[in-house]
This record gives sequence, structure tokens and C-alpha cells, in this order.
Amino acid sequence: MTDRTSIHGQWSSRLAFILAATGSAVGLGNIWKFPYITGENGGGAFVLVYLVCVVIVGIPIMMAEVLIGRRGRQSPINTMRLLAHEESRHGIWQIVGWSGMVAGFLIISFYSVIAGWALAYVFRTASGTFTGVTADGVSSIFSSLVSDPERLLAWHTIFMVMTTIVVSRGVRSGLEQAVRVLMPLLFMLLLVLVGYAMNTDKFDEGLAFLFSPNFSALTPGAVLTAMGHAFFTLSLGMGAIMIYGSYLPKSASITKTSVVVALMDTLVALLAGMAIFPIVFANGLEAGAGPGLIFQTLPLAFGHMPGGTLFGTLFFVLLVFAAWTSGISLLEPAVAWLVENQGVNRVRAATLMGILGWLFGIVTIMSFSSWAFEFDFAGETKRSGMFDILDILTANIMLPLGGLAMAVFAGWFMSRDSTMDELGMGDSLVFRGWFFLVRYVTPVAVIVVFLQLLGVIDF
Ligand code: TRP
Repeated sequence: MTDRTSIHGQWSSRLAFILAATGSAVGLGNIWKFPYITGENGGGAFVLVYLVCVVIVGIPIMMAEVLIGRRGRQSPINTMRLLAHEESRHGIWQIVGWSGMVAGFLIISFYSVIAGWALAYVFRTASGTFTGVTADGVSSIFSSLVSDPERLLAWHTIFMVMTTIVVSRGVRSGLEQAVRVLMPLLFMLLLVLVGYAMNTDKFDEGLAFLFSPNFSALTPGAVLTAMGHAFFTLSLGMGAIMIYGSYLPKSASITKTSVVVALMDTLVALLAGMAIFPIVFANGLEAGAGPGLIFQTLPLAFGHMPGGTLFGTLFFVLLVFAAWTSGISLLEPAVAWLVENQGVNRVRAATLMGILGWLFGIVTIMSFSSWAFEFDFAGETKRSGMFDILDILTANIMLPLGGLAMAVFAGWFMSRDSTMDELGMGDSLVFRGWFFLVRYVTPVAVIVVFLQLLGVIDF
């Protein structure tokens, strides 16, 4: 009953899964989003809440998501339906798969636009645009890009085509090899950037901003954003990790792989923060600058360091690759479902999803120029209208709810025997620890964060 195989194929090894899942997890979330939301939310205390969420919410849910995926071996919708049936539960659980598919579609629509910014920056850095440039110069270069919908559309189109091509060939071919080389390279370039940041006279200030918590700066909105980011950065709550789990060989340890993926993801985010904030402070820039933060800071470093044109170009190339390996995991659940249920072939399914995501991406493109509007969310002013709404709706609401449902399903609605069998550790201490976390700690944590936002509980 539990030795099913996926019709979409299987990873060649546990390492291949780790690479693919890390490829999904490490992306714009780590290098673009983590620094800018940390800057907007006051630093240290926000980072601490995020790290706590990774440990008590992220890792247990990642394990739940992988185990559900591997047990069902189908697209998230069909996996949830099948497991609910096998565990004699109501078919309504498949809603987790549906909402994940919608979340993935909404996320790819804006993710691709931001990846387009990174693509544009590859060419700018390579052509030496940033050499010797001032902070004001860097910001005006950024503003002129985001206020030009036609250029944004061109880059967004290129990224969406790249993503669709990989998904239509099947996530296995090519992906494993690419991640194997690119991840270590990205890591090394981040170290180079941290090295540069160490030589500014504000490295200590940057570290203090990241790591010394000031809890008075922590708003209810910031707590939700930190938790939402734990989901976003680990690719949790929408079925991406579930579908990747469905290609995982039965012999692999879910616990070890999940911990490794979460560790690598966290390390990349922290390195990005350590590179960026010293540069922000050394140049008198605004930590709360918003989504443009890395695009307004890193070019300054590249414009002033020896070999900056080379390093800078390489950095944005790697950022595009990181975004690419993440983007494909956002489309994969929907594509697998179309192949399973609608009888379309993979190429058509991927093309259809690619076109839909591309079209909807226009909403994000316009958010930075003519459709921009401001609104307040939980005590913060948001300036990019629909983009911010999409971000809040997906990362801060849909992903935590999806993850909550997966934790509750694995902890309360699957039999203890099923989860124990799938995790393959017997009734060990680690199993019991996980079981306790998904049953009590994780659901309570997610619910408390939502409630405090609604003002029901006041901290
Ligand atoms: N985790 C990726 C990042 O940090 C984005 C991503 C890929 C994602 N797949 C996902 C986010 C699934 C949520 C759900 O850039």
C-alpha cells in the first residue's frame, strides 16, 4: 500500500531530493525578501521570531509535507484525496491541494516579475553601469526600471519562459545537475560579499541590527510577517515540497533531509543579511527602503570593489538561477495535477500555467507605477498596492493556513502508524518529538500568531 511510485518519475537519490528541495527553498525569498522585510520590521527581534518559526513551525511542517507527499505520490490535490480516503477521513481535505495550487499561481505571478529585476541587473552590472556610481545614482537607476512597465514586462516574459521550459521537460532532467553546481557558487559569492561588508566601517552596526533584538520594535504585523516568511522561504504550505516529496525514494530519511534543507536555507538568508546591512549603514541608506533594498545597495558594493563588474554580474546570474529553481517548484503541483486529471501532456500543462502566471504578473508590474496605491496593514504603510496585497495574501495568510492544515492532517487525521511508517524511525524519541510538535506546538503557534494580529490576544 505504501510502495507506490509517481507517474512523474523519481529523484535518483536522497541527495538529488536535497538539491531540488534546497533549490526550491533558496531563492528570492532569502536574498531579496529576507533583507527588505528585516529592514522594514526593525531587525533583530524580527530575525529572532523568524528563526524560532523555522525551528518550531517550519521543520515539523516540512517533514509533514514531505511524508504526505511521499505516501500519496501524486499531485497535492490527488495525494490529499487519496490519503484522506485511506485514513477514512472526509474528502474535503483535498482543499489543501486546491488552495496550494492557487497560492502557487499567485506567487509565481509576482515572483517572476522580481526575478525579472534580477535579470535586468545581470546586464546592467555586466555593462559596467554601476562602476563608481553614488547611492543616489543607484536608486535612480532602480526607480527608472520599476517605473517602466514595458521593460518589466520584457524581463518577466523571459523569466516565465525559462521557468515554463524546465517544468515542461520535467523537473528532474537538468535540475539536479544545475543545483549541484550553482548552490555552492552562490554560497561562495555571498561569502565574498560578506567579506566586502566586513571592510566597510559599519560591519558591527550591521550585525547588531540583525542579531540584537529590540522587542519594542516588534508589532503584531511583524510577528505575522516573520512567520509567513518562514513558510515562504522554506517553500512550505502550498504543495511544492509535497510534490517534491512524492518523487523521493522510500529509503531516504525525511527527518535528516528536512533539517539539512532548512539549515542551508537559513544560512543563505543570514549571509545575505550580513552582506547587505553594513552596506546600507555605511552609505547612509534606508534599511526600510522596501522591495528595492538589494537593488539599491548591492550595486554600490559592486561599483566600488575590485573586480566588482565580474562579481556583480556573477551574483545576479546566480540570483536568477536561485529564482529559477524556486519558480519551477511553484508551477509543478498545478502541472502535475493537469497531467493526472485533465489528460493533457506535460508540455501543454506547463505552457498553460506559464501563460496564466505571465498574464497575472501584469498586476504586479503595474503595482510599481500607474496602479500604485498606499494602504496600512497592521501598523505598517505599504506602498505598492496589489503587489503588497498578493504578498500578504499568499505568504502571510494562505501558506500558514495550508501548513497548519498539513500539520493537523499529519498529526491528528493520519494514524500514528502511517506517519511512523513513513518517517521510518520507529517509535523513537525523534518521532515522538516531531509528533508532539505537529500535534500541539505548530498548530498552536500558527493560531496564536493569527489571533494576536486580530487583537484577540494582546502581548
Ligand atoms: N522558497 C522560495 C524563495 O525563498 C520561493 C518558493 C518556491 C516558494 N516555491 C515555493 C514559496 C512554494 C512558497 C511556496 O524564494
